Amino acid sequence: GKVGVLYGGRSAEREVSLMSGAGVLQALQSKGIDAHGFDTGLRSIAELAAEKFDRVFIALHGRYGEDGTLQGALEQLGIPYTGSGVMASAIAMDKVMTKRIWLSNGLPTPGFRVFDSQSTSAADLQLAADELGLPLMLKAPHEGSTIGIKKVNSGVEVTPAFAYCAKYDEVVLAEEFITGRELTVPVLGRGRNARALPIVEIRAPQGNYDYQNKYFSDDTQYLCPAPLDAELTQKIQAIAVRAFNAVGCAGWGRVDFMLRATDNEPFLLELNSSPGMTGHSLVPMSAKASGISYEDLCAEILRSAAL
Ligand code: DAL
Ligand code: MG
Repeated sequence: GKVGVLYGGRSAEREVSLMSGAGVLQALQSKGIDAHGFDTGLRSIAELAAEKFDRVFIALHGRYGEDGTLQGALEQLGIPYTGSGVMASAIAMDKVMTKRIWLSNGLPTPGFRVFDSQSTSAADLQLAADELGLPLMLKAPHEGSTIGIKKVNSGVEVTPAFAYCAKYDEVVLAEEFITGRELTVPVLGRGRNARALPIVEIRAPQGNYDYQNKYFSDDTQYLCPAPLDAELTQKIQAIAVRAFNAVGCAGWGRVDFMLRATDNEPFLLELNSSPGMTGHSLVPMSAKASGISYEDLCAEILRSAAL
């Protein structure tokens, strides 16, 4: 049947999605699939309905694509789509909700507090910094690709960093910073059949895996499979699958971790329900390490759009 590759969109991650979408489209076409690109940032839901796609591959990141809103529209239209459903997408897009669900399932995530973007005083923030310690992470809960995120290294930085993050969201997540190694784990499948792919370790220049280093720098080093012993590898992969299932994700996703330097304890940071598929992205890198080509990976994800 006719497959739509939905990309672009109108979130802060539009540029990333254009790269993901171009890769996915080409991969599906190379598999002989009748795939067509559709930019949801330029065209309407009515136009999407008129295309009469038999199913769609969602290669969108961030709001209006990864956050359940588009998934709801596709449910209404009766078009099968890749990845997580409405509720899991909405939860995964919200770092605070995701952490609450993980905590209630006994899964490890750094300590945190949530602040209203409008009505938080400098004194409140100072208390959070005292409680959670420095460095401190401040995050706009609904963004991706390190947009709306600041690492606070000293007390004087707290207020300006908060003001920056508050521009992106109604609340700001203040999160304990875990010093250690940065890891990510792709998960494919669903429920009892969900499985983790090899762990990727990210070593960014100055430990700063930001937007520039994610998509444009060649100085970031990636180690896959991450050099961890077999026992720790299995433990982290098992936590990744539990974290994915706890949120109710399906099809595919990528679970981001910090591994604490002092004791090798893993901490869950966030879950990406529609991860990057660019030339620099980590799900394709991990798939490749387990013998799955980019093209085969796209075909497997497409199969998650159950007809
Ligand atoms: N939010 C970006 C696209 C990712 O997680 O890969
Ligand atoms: Mg993310």
